[in-house]
Amino acid sequence: MTVTDVSATAPNAQGYRGFKLGGFHFSRDEFFVHLSWPTGKHVISADTFLKALQRDVAWDFFYGTVNFDHVFGTVNHYGTVDMFAGRFNDAYRKAELDHSENFDTLLIRETFKEMLDDWTNASFDPFASPTETGKPFGVKNGSNTAAVTRRRVAANRMVGVPGDEQIRTDATHPINRMFADVPQDDPDIHAEPGFEGEVAAYNLFAYLSRSDVTWNPSVVSVCKASLYCPTTEEYILPVVHGNDRVEWFVQLSDEIVWEVHDRDTGAPRSKVTMKAGDVAAMPGDIRHQGYSSKRSMLLVWENASPGLPELISTGQVSVYPVDF
Ligand code: PHB
Ligand code: FE
Repeated sequence: MTVTDVSATAPNAQGYRGFKLGGFHFSRDEFFVHLSWPTGKHVISADTFLKALQRDVAWDFFYGTVNFDHVFGTVNHYGTVDMFAGRFNDAYRKAELDHSENFDTLLIRETFKEMLDDWTNASFDPFASPTETGKPFGVKNGSNTAAVTRRRVAANRMVGVPGDEQIRTDATHPINRMFADVPQDDPDIHAEPGFEGEVAAYNLFAYLSRSDVTWNPSVVSVCKASLYCPTTEEYILPVVHGNDRVEWFVQLSDEIVWEVHDRDTGAPRSKVTMKAGDVAAMPGDIRHQGYSSKRSMLLVWENASPGLPELISTGQVSVYPVDF
């Protein structure tokens, strides 16, 4: 067996294949995803599961922890990934029912990609706002491979500079209904003679107004380990993200309410209401989930330094950006 051999069963009565990864088993029916592992089992609504699975795949397991719900999720070790049940749930821990297994990233990535493709019907786009897509439920009905294999934008330097031409137009990305009032004019560039090819600017608000996905940060600028990852948000962030480093949020428009809980136990820590112009630093020891009533624009600012998780977990660096 090679590292990318995915273990799957023939379709069940509803038309969906089953999947196995280590001691974890996954199956879906018309409404639910059923999970089991050596010490327990769990049920998650198909829409919750597919929307979280879509992000975990698209973000290649992201920074730190991706909780699908209060029981199941993944922890990224950047080369390997833990898949867990109950590990960040105080009650499961106390009852010693939590379970975790470590997999080569290649294997879990391939398994998740096949599961996402098999379990997403033609009518459903897991990246879309609930008002802009059909339902995920029912017996197997086609597939939506184009949607679930969308790649998020990842600039090498900055959107709009040579080699990073991801500018959006009416033909490819119409303005979203919620952002009809966003001005679309381009900035004026006045470069010193001789520097015309090295100075670039674009209208980030116009760019974001044309995003066709929700809760999917794209990397629009890269400066060493500093990544600007703006995104458009509507309804609920489909995962509960557990940080392994500090993460900054700049609310670019409208409003998001964040539920912030302790990363390890799930105990509530705070509720943060961010209005346009607000800036917040999310500590390195929390988990959070955002709610956005109206489609809004958020800038997620990530520090991708590979050494950070270890510096934080060994206490050499604080979980706060500033200790007051
Ligand atoms: C986050 O967990 O920090 C996060 C993820 C996706 C978003 C916004 C924030 O769209
Ligand atoms: Fe986060």
